[in-house]
Amino acid sequence: TAEDGTEVAPAQRGVRVPPGVTVFDAASWNGIAIDSTCGGHGTCHKCRIRVTSEVEVPLTRHDVRTFTADQLSAGWRLGCLLHATRDLAVDVPPLTTRPKAATVGIGRQVILRPALQKRYVELAEPSLSDQRTDLVRLTDAIDDLELTADLHVLRRLATVLRQADFKVTAVVLDEALVDVEAGDTTAFRYAIAFDLGTTTVVGTLLDVGTGTPLAVASSLNAQQPFGGDVITRISATMMDPAALGRLQQAAGATLADLARRVCREAGVEPTDVYEVAVAGNATMTALVLGIDPEPLGVAPFVMAAAEPPDVLASEIGLDLHPRARAFFFPALGAYVGGDIVAGMLATGMDRDKRTRLFIDVGTNCEIVLSDGETLLSTAAPAGPAFEGGAIRCGMRAADGAIEVVKVDPHAEDPDAAVTLGVIGDVEPRGLCGSGLVDAVAELVRVGLLDASGRLVPEEEAKGVAPALADRLARVGEERVFVLHRPGPGVDPAECVYLSQRDVRELQFAKAAISTGWSLLLAELGLEHRDVQQVLLAGSFGSYLSPASAVRIGLVPRLPVLRIVAAGNVAGEGAKMALLSVRERAGALALLEEVTYVELSDRPDFNDAFVEQLAFGR
Ligand code: FES
Repeated sequence: TAEDGTEVAPAQRGVRVPPGVTVFDAASWNGIAIDSTCGGHGTCHKCRIRVTSEVEVPLTRHDVRTFTADQLSAGWRLGCLLHATRDLAVDVPPLTTRPKAATVGIGRQVILRPALQKRYVELAEPSLSDQRTDLVRLTDAIDDLELTADLHVLRRLATVLRQADFKVTAVVLDEALVDVEAGDTTAFRYAIAFDLGTTTVVGTLLDVGTGTPLAVASSLNAQQPFGGDVITRISATMMDPAALGRLQQAAGATLADLARRVCREAGVEPTDVYEVAVAGNATMTALVLGIDPEPLGVAPFVMAAAEPPDVLASEIGLDLHPRARAFFFPALGAYVGGDIVAGMLATGMDRDKRTRLFIDVGTNCEIVLSDGETLLSTAAPAGPAFEGGAIRCGMRAADGAIEVVKVDPHAEDPDAAVTLGVIGDVEPRGLCGSGLVDAVAELVRVGLLDASGRLVPEEEAKGVAPALADRLARVGEERVFVLHRPGPGVDPAECVYLSQRDVRELQFAKAAISTGWSLLLAELGLEHRDVQQVLLAGSFGSYLSPASAVRIGLVPRLPVLRIVAAGNVAGEGAKMALLSVRERAGALALLEEVTYVELSDRPDFNDAFVEQLAFGR
């Protein structure tokens, strides 16, 4: 229901979002537009939403100024000031204004200047006294653009002009006239932003005329059977010459399926989609373009090109407008790819004067540090622990995965001493990356894991955390901490547990990452406390508990309020590139502005790594 009481057709959507993000960001990341002219900074008072769950929601002074007492008690709040800290049902009113700017990424206001433009023109018909060519007749009518036309347009031009009585819409991408359409089709201008991840691929259909996201879909990358990470996929191409073609085809099929789904969901004709932007790491970009990725996988880790050329969307398997174009984000290095460049765009890493650290946590962890002047980046090989790989009870973040762990060492009832948050609210089946980080952080906090990462002996455990001590058990020779026991007396091997070896895996992963950012801080002569904001990005990083990330030393020791879940910033950057040519140019400029720091050949790397292995209390 709109604020004025108008009934609108509800579109029910359930989305999972990182804890603590604002309702405004959560909605926008999930393709639901909320009115705003300030970009989520609490000043425009337009982002009005209504909380319909029966829960107490906090009130800010801005809410009090914006709403009447009746509206406040009916649940109206400003969406950019309301943080999602638990399940919430929210009504989002339809947009009231036609936006000139869109809010994308982390509070970025993007003035709409898409490469895709449509111009409706009514042309004078040719006569013996006006024998201008069809092309000149059209381009004369659009005199603010220098247009060039390709053969595809020339083949259609004469027929379309005459069939449509010279009332046509010119379709322009940058300065290229890519089509002429009969009548006025200016309302139909769509593009798709893709985040081409190694594991998950997300597509967002955008109306580039308004900046509004219309539909979002995600799926697993169909390259999965070739291996879970980039190295195994590169290896597949090295072992079998046919694998590159199959990997290319699988990536293209994933993108094509998402394109079909978002168009269907929004009721948009695929032929009205004229452009796509793809943000992927260097390996995913090479594979979808059919470029041999082998040099990316072996030292000295060289890319074919930092800046892939624009290609036709049809060349990567997409069935959209026949002249639709695909823009690929450039990469800074073999392991700091286009997804990170897109993420830097979405978080404004190059514009903000604050000292900020951007960490995309994953098998390969990318790190960017800015002190407001200098931008440094690096990549840290964290291994598969965060994806649930190499963890005894590890699994991807799917239904049944434990994602939150809280322990109370003094609970009266030992069963209540461990509280678990499980995705899908079902029986726990395993532990995903954020659950792993939480479990270790909690055990460090209560003293069941010592600074070296060792599970303390049972006797000692009884002293520090009596309610938890009997969860220490053995599976084979290995010591474990039982997180979930399906029934009384069930053998620990059948339970969901954290093993001593899992702790070691996480320790190595976090040490790799913290070595990365601590060496970047040292490069700029900065200390932990100088960092004003840490952005945890990516499908894994965004779901990490900031407190647990601090506790285990994955991020610098800072107040948790300085640690922000940034969400799927690669996809947000891809949207920005479609909505603004200036932002797209900004992404290309990052290639010059960011210095890549190679960690692997640094003499101080090993010492720093060893130093970072321990857990602080
Ligand atoms: Fe402007 Fe919330 S978006 S106040």
